[in-house]
Amino acid sequence: MTDRYCVFGHPVGHSKSPAIHAAFAAQTGEPIEYTAIEAPLDDFAGAWRRFTAEGGRGANVTVPFKEEAFRLCDTLSERARRAGAVNTLILGGNGLTYGDTSDGVGLVRDLVGHGVALRGARVLVLGAGGAVRGVLEPLLAEAPASLFVANRTAEKAAGLAADFHDLGEIEGGGFDAVAGPFDLVINGTSASLAGDLPPLPDDLFAPGATAYDMMYGAEPTVFLRWAAVRGARPLDGLGMLVEQAAESFFQWRGKRPETAPVRERLRQAL
Ligand code: ATR
Repeated sequence: MTDRYCVFGHPVGHSKSPAIHAAFAAQTGEPIEYTAIEAPLDDFAGAWRRFTAEGGRGANVTVPFKEEAFRLCDTLSERARRAGAVNTLILGGNGLTYGDTSDGVGLVRDLVGHGVALRGARVLVLGAGGAVRGVLEPLLAEAPASLFVANRTAEKAAGLAADFHDLGEIEGGGFDAVAGPFDLVINGTSASLAGDLPPLPDDLFAPGATAYDMMYGAEPTVFLRWAAVRGARPLDGLGMLVEQAAESFFQWRGKRPETAPVRERLRQAL
């Protein structure tokens, strides 16, 4: 009996999630079917209800539905509550909907998998939108020495940092308040999409530092090119994409797929 899963988005045609989960299913022998469904912008809850009525067991949720998915859940993981967003839906045996977010843990797993040390590291995160909110709890759980959130709109970064003060050493402010050096700089702004670079000082990176862009593409982003010239090791968000998928797969099926071969196959196809 094949269990059904999907990714909901709008648009969703270019999602890599069906290919990733097909690879995980083949690797683990789990009998699942995973499709992409374009949910209507005005009725995400209805799309989830219809999917489960037709035998759907769980789903990933992408732009622009992560906050709506958060609101429809009957129960939430602590990390999803902190993120204010859900990217993984699970239909419980009792018919209730459980929500989790695997984005932040996906980022941390990708960093750790690439040998990036987080404990004791000086970390800078650029941006203060939903993408950044989703990764702060798992990052702080790794006990960095400090975490500074910098954003074009300074008050948003300060407010976001305040929401996570109880979890560790976190401050927020504008780009003009950035004072390095940092061991790890994570770009979580959508500036890369427009080919823009946040205004950053030249002496941002400590020796051996890593620059991580949550975006990815066939070519390195503007931020990663800028960072590489300044001596940082560039990593893009393709690994995070595959790791968050693996975490969702684990939540649904109780099996942890191998991610590196799947990531490399995607890389070659970019
Ligand atoms: P997401 O869900 O991807 O995080 P978002 O909530 O709209 O999307 O947040 C986008 C983030 O990118 C914000 O931090 C935004 O800065 P503002 O809060 O000041 O708007 C940031 N951003 C977008 N375009 C940018 C640019 N050209 N330069 C710097 N930051 C930018």
